[in-house]
Amino acid sequence: MSVDDQKRAVAEAALEFVRPGEVLGVGTGSTANHFIDLLGERFAGRVPACVSSSEASTDRLRELGFKVIELAEVDSYSIYVDGADEFEPGLAMIKGGGAALTSEKIVSSLAEQFICIVDASKRVDVMGAFPLPVEIIGMAARAVSRALTDLGGEPVLREGVVTDHGNPIIDVHGMRITDPVVLEGEIEAIPGVVTCGLFARRPADVVLMGTDQGVQRFGG
Ligand code: A5P
Repeated sequence: MSVDDQKRAVAEAALEFVRPGEVLGVGTGSTANHFIDLLGERFAGRVPACVSSSEASTDRLRELGFKVIELAEVDSYSIYVDGADEFEPGLAMIKGGGAALTSEKIVSSLAEQFICIVDASKRVDVMGAFPLPVEIIGMAARAVSRALTDLGGEPVLREGVVTDHGNPIIDVHGMRITDPVVLEGEIEAIPGVVTCGLFARRPADVVLMGTDQGVQRFGG
């Protein structure tokens, strides 16, 4: 099974969590794109509205006829479905490889359940091999980089990328993240940091992982 086949298989498995008649939170990335496409095939007319975590996902949802509403129009929803760049046994994740981490953290925070959909390459024992994305305010780049170096990482500004919120991203290499909850708090406390790509204080509730043997479920 190719990686893309695994992504499509978990996207399909996530459809079981969709509740017809309810607002749905939708993530960003190639796995989330499979989910959106399948949602269009199987749930057209049965999801009253979606809350989206990026302009790209909003466009894709609207092309398929889904209504996309602003976050300010809802208090909460049952389900948020999104991919991840890495996840570990506690279901903490690294996200933001696609630069949508800030909206993903906000939109997922209002969901009762975060359903994470990933191919098998995303499973790790200790996170950090995937460079940790950190969205920052541009004027703070130098100061934030210094603080990230003090935390043991090697910060690299992501060239040519600006987020949906108009900010740059620093990717932090060389981290071995043994306590993701503490590190998420430490990074988000640095002045000039908008969002750290660690999703640990609020991890996934369920991870659906594609394998050659089928979809493996963690949590829930
Ligand atoms: C977007 O910013 C990310 O958080 C994605 O959810 C993550 O990078 C996973 O992307 P893929 O589904 O494309 O692997």
